[in-house]
Amino acid sequence: MAKSFLTLAAARRTAYEFSSKTVPGPAIKKILEAGRWAPSTLNSQPWQFIVVKNKKTIGGMVDAAYYGSFHGEPPVIIAIVLPREKYCGGTHRGIVQGRLGAKEALFSIAMPALSISLCATDLGVSSCIFSLDETLLPPGLGIRKGDSVPLAVGLGYEGGKAGDCKFLHSRKPLAKMVHNEKFSAKRAGSG
Ligand SMILES: Cc1cc2nc3c(=O)[nH]c(=O)nc-3n(C[C@H](O)[C@H](O)[C@H](O)COP(=O)(O)O)c2cc1C
Repeated sequence: MAKSFLTLAAARRTAYEFSSKTVPGPAIKKILEAGRWAPSTLNSQPWQFIVVKNKKTIGGMVDAAYYGSFHGEPPVIIAIVLPREKYCGGTHRGIVQGRLGAKEALFSIAMPALSISLCATDLGVSSCIFSLDETLLPPGLGIRKGDSVPLAVGLGYEGGKAGDCKFLHSRKPLAKMVHNEKFSAKRAGSG
């Protein structure tokens, strides 16, 4: 029987260390399908997915991760690209002259990142969503000037050498994030 969505959502957690075991092609295909069905601003689907398995490129991407290079290297990374034809990083909302501004573009690419990660969990594949310092992207990715790769998702199986940083997979209780009708800074813990 399929897992309930809440069980799946709670089971998804960031992996920080990976064994060398590779992810089978059919699983990668399903995971990419999950990304494909993600919603986006005006159904613009501004993303392109690069499936990276080359060890040198993977090493370069892990080094380009924000918050340090503490991930063990996953055997596969899906780089989520905003090609320059669809994205200009501007402050405008929505789409102007065929290109998304920064906000909608970033909202939009977060959607496939999560779908990819959840689908991976559903298939028993570990994952890590990570943001990239785009000034450090490895040349092997083929990224052109003006393209953007703000996010990537590593895929693999947990194991191997532990990384040097782990954030806790825990969440504040709903009582500290849900407000009835009106925002309360006290409830949010900031007032
Ligand atoms: C948009 C985004 C960017 C992230 N960037 C990084 C990153 O650069 N490095 C990292 O180790 N984790 C990164 N993470 C993973 C978060 O640290 C992680 O989701 C958070 O600590 C909660 O843990 P969990 O995913 O296990 O529930 C990122 C997650 C998101 C959604």
